[in-house]
Amino acid sequence: MNTHARIAFPDLQSKTMSADDAAALIHDGMTIGMSGFTGSGYPKSVPVALASQIEAAHAAGNPFRVKVFTGASTGPELDGALAKANGIEFRLPYNSDPIAREQINSGEMNYVDMHLSQVAPVVWEGFLGKLDMAVVEVSGITPDGDLIPSTSIGNNKTWLDQAEKVILEVNHWQSHALDGMHDIYYGTALPPSRVPIPLVRPDDRIGQKHFRIDPSKVVAVVETEAPDRNLPFAKPDAVAEAIAGHLLEFLAHEVARGRLPANLLPLQSGVGNVTNAVLSGLMDSPYHDMTAFTEVVQDGMLDLLDAGKLRMASATAFSLSPEAAERFNRDALRYRDKLILRPQEISNHPELVRRLGCIAMNGLIEADIYGNVNSTHVMGSRIQNGIGGSGDFARNAYLSIFMTPSTAKGGKISAIVPQVAHVDHISQDVQVIVTEHGLADLRGLAPRQRAGVIIDRCAHPDYKPMLRDYYARALQGSFGKHAPTLLNEALSWHQRYVETGSMR
Ligand code: COA
Repeated sequence: MNTHARIAFPDLQSKTMSADDAAALIHDGMTIGMSGFTGSGYPKSVPVALASQIEAAHAAGNPFRVKVFTGASTGPELDGALAKANGIEFRLPYNSDPIAREQINSGEMNYVDMHLSQVAPVVWEGFLGKLDMAVVEVSGITPDGDLIPSTSIGNNKTWLDQAEKVILEVNHWQSHALDGMHDIYYGTALPPSRVPIPLVRPDDRIGQKHFRIDPSKVVAVVETEAPDRNLPFAKPDAVAEAIAGHLLEFLAHEVARGRLPANLLPLQSGVGNVTNAVLSGLMDSPYHDMTAFTEVVQDGMLDLLDAGKLRMASATAFSLSPEAAERFNRDALRYRDKLILRPQEISNHPELVRRLGCIAMNGLIEADIYGNVNSTHVMGSRIQNGIGGSGDFARNAYLSIFMTPSTAKGGKISAIVPQVAHVDHISQDVQVIVTEHGLADLRGLAPRQRAGVIIDRCAHPDYKPMLRDYYARALQGSFGKHAPTLLNEALSWHQRYVETGSMR
């Protein structure tokens, strides 16, 4: 590791220390803002060292738990290690780590699931209390003492500005060519001083390349050399390919009708295998000169960039499989003028999503026959991940599309139900639902019309007769006929699954 090449500011060179020494500066009860967004740009050694110190404290009978804020999900060295040590008392705004998920669902960990664009503003507004420490991965420190960001921006600008003290991890594994890819906007303000965000095209740069930092706040600099870690994407299966096929046909139809331009509108693509399959499907589509204004850059987007189909992508982080991360790292220079990473309050900003007219494509857990969508809670009570940026985009998009396989857990669960057991996206924010069986275009449809289309086009054949039967009886027995509902039966499918292990 060439320390001087990565840490070019002498004041901060003198603060280098081991991860153990840095972690010892963190104490019980502290609130920590950590970098990390999906498996990218999260600190890789201080959280592991902190987890050991927490375990040792617990073994000695001493309390030691911390509150952890991040950009979104992170890697096993952060959420996994700290959760395993039972060291997280409170977590926000998004989690996909299985150990942390178990603790949240068993009631051991308090978790606040938030719209990702709203995290930084509420911290600035003071609603989440004081931030004691920031632990942020960077890819380098300039001779002037500015910080070269890593593979995710997330809320790092806010953590670095708001935290009382700062620990930096400088990761030698990250490519030097990341320098110049970022756009850090420092123009946000609190009401009543807020002004419009001056971004009118996805490729506009409105900020600066590096983070500012007050060096006197930096209490430790830790050097690492460790890869980002994301799960590999599954190869698109027949279900994912069928969903992608319906969606691409719909987009072609919208272009033919003149409701979308020939190069589409800026794409937002959510997390997961299905959304990645749609990106793969776009490889064989007729569209060129596409853009993305999205939250994460997945494998499929690198492919589209390489193929010259996608002109550029704006996001807050990478979410790449291990192979794609290696490929990006080797070739980062080539991607530098095609990718822009921004703070998540900008990448997901409702004002910008509405202005640019994004095509939002997100996954879901379940949808009901009126088009309300649950993206987060299995059987209404067990959180899977969190709402992430899906709400930021869905409400404000030009086209708000949700997609899912029609069943889950080997067919024992229908993704189309009489009523969702938890609502993340109200029917007004859901314009299109797609499953492998078909696509329901809900624009301009009243609830009873929506029910017909969703059941006919999207439900699995095994569940269609059950949904039709429920709806026919609801039409007769409901209190009102606008959105017919049998109150004592609407959630009975979920209850049956909890009791018998199947909705059938
Ligand atoms: N009931 C119970 N479990 C369900 C379910 C349902 N109706 N639908 C999906 N699941 C489970 C799957 O079985 C799977 O569980 P497993 O990991 O134990 O096998 C898990 O949820 C993921 O489902 P999968 O079918 O693999 O889809 P995915 O990877 O596309 O993820 C979401 C779907 C909804 C979980 C995911 O899109 C998500 O977290 N969305 C919210 C955040 C978001 O949209 N972010 C993007 C904004 S930029």
